[in-house]
Amino acid sequence: EWTMHSFIEQNVRAIKKKVGSDKVICALSGGVDSSVVAAIIHRAIGDQLTCIYVNNGLMRTGESESIMRFFKEKTKLKLIDINATDFFLGELDGVEDPEVKRKRIGLGFIKIFEEEAGKIGGVKYLAQGTLYPDVIESVSFRGEAPIKSHHNVGGLPEVMQLDLIEPLRELFKDEVRELGLELGLPEEAIYRQPFPGPGLGIRIMGEVTAERLNILRQSDVIVLEEMRRAGWYRKVWQSFAVLLPIQTVGVMGDGRTYEHVIAIRSVDSRDAMTADWSKLPYEILGEISSRIINEVRGVNRVVYDISSKPPATIEWE
Ligand code: XMP
Repeated sequence: EWTMHSFIEQNVRAIKKKVGSDKVICALSGGVDSSVVAAIIHRAIGDQLTCIYVNNGLMRTGESESIMRFFKEKTKLKLIDINATDFFLGELDGVEDPEVKRKRIGLGFIKIFEEEAGKIGGVKYLAQGTLYPDVIESVSFRGEAPIKSHHNVGGLPEVMQLDLIEPLRELFKDEVRELGLELGLPEEAIYRQPFPGPGLGIRIMGEVTAERLNILRQSDVIVLEEMRRAGWYRKVWQSFAVLLPIQTVGVMGDGRTYEHVIAIRSVDSRDAMTADWSKLPYEILGEISSRIINEVRGVNRVVYDISSKPPATIEWE
């Protein structure tokens, strides 16, 4: 009989055998996938594993704090915590093209990760939270390029000549969440909506600047607060704000305004390969809209994205 418990036991045995006395590194992102990977591998090989968390300055407010606190306070996981905000914003300076953004962020990540791994020395394996749908979507189709340059650690194994350990390769997200519960991870982290590696960088259409990040972050906090308050946060696959690269005319008091537009995206999905836009109650949308327009300076219009995947993707870039 296949249970989460036996899955963990089997994997722990297999990882121990494969790794022997070698060293493993793992990129912790704050999300459920990498957290589950870290927890399983830590259970197998203890402090032969080092996890590295890179703050790329493109995270949501408070995104990774609860899981970091858990690992620091409740486990003996070796954890290196790097703040690379300035570096990443520098890399993105003047960049507008979505694929160039993804590549710059991915390469930046590899550079920092490589430096840190170099300091550890003698690393042989890289652990990754690749899921089954990632395996499918990253495969090129009839020689064409994959849909998007996903996966922030894409080029890392080749560059560093590391062998991969991917214990979640055959699982879907809901199964990974069950695993997380079995491993005792905090519920907040387990039920966190997926968040892309390139972070808010691909939710700002056009150039990523500190000012635009600030507008998006404030809007995003409101979306999540209202989704949670209404009891909808766990009902949807993802719900978030996107900053558009246009300004529109509005009116405030007697004056004309000319400000940014925020798009709200919320989708239902099991595996992110297909998705449908969420039929959110108008009250929630109304509350999100009026709060963003009233509370976030520089935004005078909010729209709701009603496209499904395919043909639209979940993220806008
Ligand atoms: P798309 O936009 O391709 O997204 O429909 C499918 C799912 O993947 C997430 N996503 C990413 N996750 N690195 C990640 O770790 C990435 O580069 C990346 N791009 C998209 C997205 O949030 C959605 O859940």
